[in-house]
Amino acid sequence: MPLASTAATCADTTAAGADVAVRLVDLTAHDEATARAASVLTPAELARARRGTPAVHRRRVLLRAALRVALAAELGVSPGAVPLRTAPSGRPGVEVPGLDVSCSAGGDLGLVAVGRDCRVGVDIEQVTPWTTDVLGERWLSPVEQCALTRLPATARAVATARAWTQKEAVLKARGTGLLEDPRTTVTPIGQQAGTVAGWSVRDVPVPEGWVASLAVARNEERTR
Ligand SMILES: CC(C)(COP(=O)(O)OP(=O)(O)OC[C@H]1O[C@@H](n2cnc3c(N)ncnc32)[C@H](O)[C@@H]1OP(=O)(O)O)[C@@H](O)C(=O)NCCC(=O)NCCS
Repeated sequence: MPLASTAATCADTTAAGADVAVRLVDLTAHDEATARAASVLTPAELARARRGTPAVHRRRVLLRAALRVALAAELGVSPGAVPLRTAPSGRPGVEVPGLDVSCSAGGDLGLVAVGRDCRVGVDIEQVTPWTTDVLGERWLSPVEQCALTRLPATARAVATARAWTQKEAVLKARGTGLLEDPRTTVTPIGQQAGTVAGWSVRDVPVPEGWVASLAVARNEERTR
């Protein structure tokens, strides 16, 4: 199996006037395919991947290789030659002006996003049954909690997962991740697209039972 077949393009999209390609990545590869993916990673990337359990190792290798494959296609170089870096915050970045990347993994699914002339963040999450316990988990603002409880009961599970992915997508686009209190990033509960803290957010199509969000801001529009 060629390395590139671990990723399938799921959306080449224009969000907020920005040019973003998002790929869905199959993270179920067998050992041979994982070893092939590992061959394009740097020693530092391999060392980081090895710090996890076998499942985390495989996920990290496949996701990082998918990032490299997506960027290699963009830059016309081999995946191993992509100047992909990791900031001290953990945020991935590419040393090419105008290009930005983000990635996420959930179970056996991964997402990689490549933005041109914009900053991007992506996140994927499995939908789990709604319970009121969510309201005590301290990641939703009071306004979001109120909006969630006003939704029909059947809509709350997806809306909760989407609120999480929209927040994480924005926090990853910023580069702060969960070092920032997620309650201060307020999402439009129940909406597949909108504006969150100045970032354009929208659903990314993923298999049933999952929700994924993309956050984008064009470079000239970004305030923080
Ligand atoms: C960003 C963050 C929310 C992602 O957590 P998650 O939901 O468990 O993981 P996801 O699968 O959705 O995303 C993981 C990817 O996000 C990226 N990422 C990590 N930190 C990031 C950050 N600060 N900003 C943007 N992207 C980040 C990485 O590429 C990571 O993939 P990797 O683990 O294979 O390197 C979480 O890692 C975080 O809050 N990190 C910042 C705070 C922190 O602990 N920093 C430590 C410095 S090393």
